[in-house]
Amino acid sequence: MSLRNVLIDELRDMYSAENQLVKALPKLAKGSIDPTLKDLFKTHLEETKGQVLRLRQVFEHLGEKPTGQHCSGMEGVVEEGADALEKDEEGPSFDSGIVGAALRTEHYEIAGYTACIMMAKTLGERDVVSLLTENLNEEVAAAKKISAAAQPILKQSAAQPDEEEEAPKTAKEKTSARKSVQDEKAAAAAVKKSAA
Ligand SMILES: [Fe+2]
Repeated sequence: MSLRNVLIDELRDMYSAENQLVKALPKLAKGSIDPTLKDLFKTHLEETKGQVLRLRQVFEHLGEKPTGQHCSGMEGVVEEGADALEKDEEGPSFDSGIVGAALRTEHYEIAGYTACIMMAKTLGERDVVSLLTENLNEEVAAAKKISAAAQPILKQSAAQPDEEEEAPKTAKEKTSARKSVQDEKAAAAAVKKSAA
């Protein structure tokens, strides 16, 4: 497989990721409580639509079609966001969970665009590099804005009283708790070795 084909694959992944976010961001905007956070998600939704269009330009430039690959990484990250929206935390603590989920989506995209830009640079695809850099810059700026908006929210959340940790209730929570124990077990021998 040539580097060009690897790049096309990665770009299709990004295209799917951005389209998934066009669906997910309105849910974060609707679900979050803090007005600044809400506005940020709304603004980033508009940017994300522009990013989808820019990716279409990239594909046009490369003479390829943008569809053909579903990004399961972003599906997982979006799923974590949906979990955060289902938490019955209150006010700032609820928003704190959403901040964590939102930053994950941005950094996932930052990693994806960084890799694609490196590949496009290697291939001498200057127009592709410049279009992708526009998208990357928007993701970096969005992550910074979310982090800045998070500061007062986290402070308020820190002032909220502790509640007793509840045992997992739903089937999904139970599966998640069980899998986390399996994750720990599977890594235990390797972690022990590095600690020794
Ligand atoms: Fe994006």
